Amino acid sequence: MDGNGRWAERRRRPRMIGHRAGARAVNACIDFCLDRGVQALTLFAFSSENWGRPEDEVGALMKLFLNALESEVQELHRRGVRVRFIGERERFNDAIRARMQAAEALTEANTGLHLSIAASYGGRWDIAQAARSLAREVAEGRLRPEDIDEAAVGARIALADLPPPDLFIRTGGDLRISNFLLWQLAYTELWFTDTLWPDMNAAVLQQALDDYANRERRFGLTGAQVAGRQHETS
Ligand code: FPP
Repeated sequence: MDGNGRWAERRRRPRMIGHRAGARAVNACIDFCLDRGVQALTLFAFSSENWGRPEDEVGALMKLFLNALESEVQELHRRGVRVRFIGERERFNDAIRARMQAAEALTEANTGLHLSIAASYGGRWDIAQAARSLAREVAEGRLRPEDIDEAAVGARIALADLPPPDLFIRTGGDLRISNFLLWQLAYTELWFTDTLWPDMNAAVLQQALDDYANRERRFGLTGAQVAGRQHETS
């Protein structure tokens, strides 16, 4: 969700005004996903590296996050959204952690959109925590090193219970992944837009989906093999 700061700076307003507008754009994206039957949406809200921003910006973002948790979760629940948080939760204060846990518990049984908020998240952190968990199981004699394969790592990585993402969208004009879901994005289609996050709306999202619909996903196979499989299943 990149571009909040620039959105505000272009209006000669403080960066936090951009973050607040960014939080409103989140609602527009959730509405779009619910409307179109998108099954899972993962938002990169705050990265492991974002802790290094100026103290006052981090503090104000934490307040915004807590306010959003207090004001939005009931409505998400009413709309059948299942909410979860991925990332290094220990770094948040007690109030935020308690709200995160309450939101997850409240919405756990919902079957609508799977909304995952990546907060204090980094793809490298995610791979490292999966490795740590595997090492612990080996040390405790519950796993043999020779049994560690891609499926074993994949089962311990964030969002393991969901299919890998079909589409990655980055706003704000930069052409990089910036430590998002590194493991999970192996075969994800990438889509970049100059739109700043607070300007994100249904029209931009629809453009991303339309472009996605024209991509050929080969997963390492040949085009002819993929066409053959599509023929078999249709
Ligand atoms: C990126 O824009 C946005 C963020 C670093 C924070 C977005 C988070 C929220 C709006 C909600 C608060 C949520 C949490 C989990 C704290 P940028 O500041 O990098 O924009 P720029 O590239 O234009 O400077």
